[in-house]
Amino acid sequence: MLQYGKLLIPLIMEAASTNSTLVSNVLSVAGSFVPKKVAYLAMPSSSAVDVVKIEIKKLPYTFKSPMLYPFPVMRKSLNPFTQPFVYLIIACLFAMLPCCTLSAFAQSPAPDSPQIEAKAHALVTKLTLEEKIRLLGGEDNMFTKAVPSIGLPRFKMSDASMGVRTWGPTTAYAGGVALAASWDPALARRVGEGLGRDSRARGVHFLLGPGVNIARSPVAGRNFEYLSEDPFLNSALVVPFIDGVQSQGVIATVKHYALNNEEYNRHNVNVEVDERTMRELYLPAFEAAVTQGHVDAVMDSYNLINGAHATQDDFLNLKVLKGEWGFKSILMSDWDATYDGVAAANNGLDLEMPSARFMDEKTLLAAVKDGRVKESTIDDKVVRIFRTILRYGFLDRPQFDPADSTCSVADRAIALDGARESITLLKNKGSLLPLDAAKVKIIAVIGPDAWPAVTGGGGSSEARAFEPVSILTGIANLAGPDVHVLYARGLPEMNDVFRDTRWEGGVTVTTFPSNDFTGKPEIATQPYVGDFQRQRHAPKSDTPQSIRYSASYKAAKTGSYILLEAFQGWDGDEFKITVDGKQLPVLPHAEGQAPQSWTLDLKAGQTLNIQAQCVPSTSTVHFGLGIAYEPELVSAEAKQFAALADVVVVAAGFNPTAEGEGYDRTFTLPWGQDALIEAVAAANPRTIVTLTGGGGMDTRRWLDKVPALLHTYYPGQEGGTAVGEVLFGKHNPEGKLPVSFDRSWEENPSAHYYYPIKGADTSLHVMEDGKPPVDYVIPHVKYEDKLMVGYRYWTTTGKHPLFPFGFGLSYTTFNFSNLQVPATATSGSAISVSFDVTNTGSVAGAEVAQLYVSDPSTKVLRPERELKGFEKVRMAPGETRHVTLNLDAGAFSYWDEAAHKWAIDPGKFIIRVGDSSENTPLHADLILN
Ligand code: BGC
Repeated sequence: MLQYGKLLIPLIMEAASTNSTLVSNVLSVAGSFVPKKVAYLAMPSSSAVDVVKIEIKKLPYTFKSPMLYPFPVMRKSLNPFTQPFVYLIIACLFAMLPCCTLSAFAQSPAPDSPQIEAKAHALVTKLTLEEKIRLLGGEDNMFTKAVPSIGLPRFKMSDASMGVRTWGPTTAYAGGVALAASWDPALARRVGEGLGRDSRARGVHFLLGPGVNIARSPVAGRNFEYLSEDPFLNSALVVPFIDGVQSQGVIATVKHYALNNEEYNRHNVNVEVDERTMRELYLPAFEAAVTQGHVDAVMDSYNLINGAHATQDDFLNLKVLKGEWGFKSILMSDWDATYDGVAAANNGLDLEMPSARFMDEKTLLAAVKDGRVKESTIDDKVVRIFRTILRYGFLDRPQFDPADSTCSVADRAIALDGARESITLLKNKGSLLPLDAAKVKIIAVIGPDAWPAVTGGGGSSEARAFEPVSILTGIANLAGPDVHVLYARGLPEMNDVFRDTRWEGGVTVTTFPSNDFTGKPEIATQPYVGDFQRQRHAPKSDTPQSIRYSASYKAAKTGSYILLEAFQGWDGDEFKITVDGKQLPVLPHAEGQAPQSWTLDLKAGQTLNIQAQCVPSTSTVHFGLGIAYEPELVSAEAKQFAALADVVVVAAGFNPTAEGEGYDRTFTLPWGQDALIEAVAAANPRTIVTLTGGGGMDTRRWLDKVPALLHTYYPGQEGGTAVGEVLFGKHNPEGKLPVSFDRSWEENPSAHYYYPIKGADTSLHVMEDGKPPVDYVIPHVKYEDKLMVGYRYWTTTGKHPLFPFGFGLSYTTFNFSNLQVPATATSGSAISVSFDVTNTGSVAGAEVAQLYVSDPSTKVLRPERELKGFEKVRMAPGETRHVTLNLDAGAFSYWDEAAHKWAIDPGKFIIRVGDSSENTPLHADLILN
């Protein structure tokens, strides 16, 4: 670090230009490694003009004066006439320095106080009704609105599930489900702090996370952003996570409140669920976020719950959140999840995002005037906004914090720990892993997820990492120069399959000027259909069109063929595909659709007639269709590399195109991957499969043919390094499944209750932009699986999934012993349970000791066991750790439907301790009086 003067001035590089000596020096020194970002200008105090060096520097303190942020005059220094002003300002800054107060860096929110309340109410009195209403809607997608009359600036938001994503490249952490697989609240706190710092480095006030919805089904498109299938685990992680974010002076936003457990038709789906199921499964993590984590923003979900959109649900918003849980901060909508301004205003919504389409001046002014909405209701919302920003000091300090770096080495270390702690070893036959580095001379890394790095799933959580480490590069780095690393993708890219399909006579495309295949068609012929690309938001089309693609395909050889289709599939789009007149089942879609494939057994010379019909709701149509002969789909190179290598790693699984927000994914692996794993395993029995994805997936075709299986979830930017470390034994795997891993989608307990109930569709009248009410078709999804989600179902029915919740192998072994449980206790008193865990193997490792409670004398149907305690213990070989877990009333309670409150049936309970929901070697009875 340069030791010239003590002055460090933040300089916005974006504003810099190249002409002046001052600025060109800055750019030539720093431009290569922090272009367009903030650097500090270090200079001798005697000379303000000579910039000698730029460094990114971590400051132990911050300047309190907002005058120093930012320093935009640099652009003007282009002009020689304005240059003196620059110097003058710099000189002024020098002069001001002694006045600046230095303060501790992280700025946790102050607790509410009579002073803050008084100030918040006083601010409200300064606003007109119009100004108050204007504050209730956002602007520019990621901001609240400013009120210039009282000097209130606007506040900035950013998406969050994998990293602070909205404002350029960032640190991409192992998000949601991976964090849950770590079972480590201390890590959750560190990730929260990292995200808080990443937010401050970008001046972000609101972080739009964490997401805590329950993983009810493996196909739900956003499971990867969320945590687990268990409310206790989610609650235990969300509290330190929020604490971490908010300790940095950034508001965390717990989302999506509530019951967003599928992406299918997420704006319109009506979740029908009973109160007990809600209270016991779907609400606890939100409750913990509010009552223990003191989260300062909650985001309502898109869906309806028992007939009301979340943004206008009085039960969830008013009775539960703001009433029972005492939430005093800001309840915002998901983006365009508000459907009725008056109903939302009266039922608890404080802030409509991203803009006021419904809670706007026109609607609410009229509603206040004619008494449909009380002015005090509007005032309460504004007080909540003021109270929160006052508690965070947003009016007294800059949110941009130059001591935090956008490309932070410290946060990179957290990202690496996140990947290390989550990777879960599911199978390790014959102890193939860890690999003996001395014996591996050639390693083949094959598969679509091997390179480039797949850090996260798709949608608003997609975080662009600066330099993500792929599985291929992670392994190569770990293997070192003496090991020969061979790489093949193994499968073609999807668009290559589309382009390489030889249709007999091309594809006939018939386009009708209507949305029902009527009117004068335009007919064209093209050699292939290969226009697919994932697009998150597409403008609606003004002119109707319906398109029919007709093509014939002649099989050259006898065998198995893959028919592959990818269609944008927006809500409102219709899509149908037939083969020889027979309609194929297609995935329901919403804001997109996962690519789909079907396997067809054909004879040489057999010709198929394929017809695909789409009625797109958007003007651009993204559609691809192709056929490939399965035995030739896997590249010859991949098979050859597999045969040559001492060991093969197949990186399989999903990616942002196949799994993401707005649509549900398939349970089967993306097309061709089963064939790829089979082909590689046939060429080399020492095949290790790594999976990327938000939960369980279909492994039936190949699991018994491969000796080792690792789940990496979405491991963030450092995932490849962590995979390499686990494979070569530099890190002992410690992840434990946060979801049950089913064999098939059908055996998942929610499968029969996942899509709408046939014949139950009704219409809902919704106001849209002041126009007459629009009829929405409401698909009803009834949660008849009730409490029987994940391991609750498996343990209650006595059946077994492929891999149970809580399961994960290690390179060492552990033993549980010495369970101490009081024989009797009084209901509601604090109860301590203790036991020993010993590392009985020869290497250090971490075990997650899990405590489950069973209630055999219950009066109501309860899941056979429920997680009520856990602790992650790290131990050296031979070490024993004594673990004590405390159980409160919540460990024994259920929601009494009739009395509408928590209840405990006195009598016998069983306390079980072990390393998964199924393996609980220790158990003891406890009688509760
Ligand atoms: C997502 C939210 C996200 C918001 C802003 C919505 O589509 O559901 O989770 O925070 O967009 O990007």
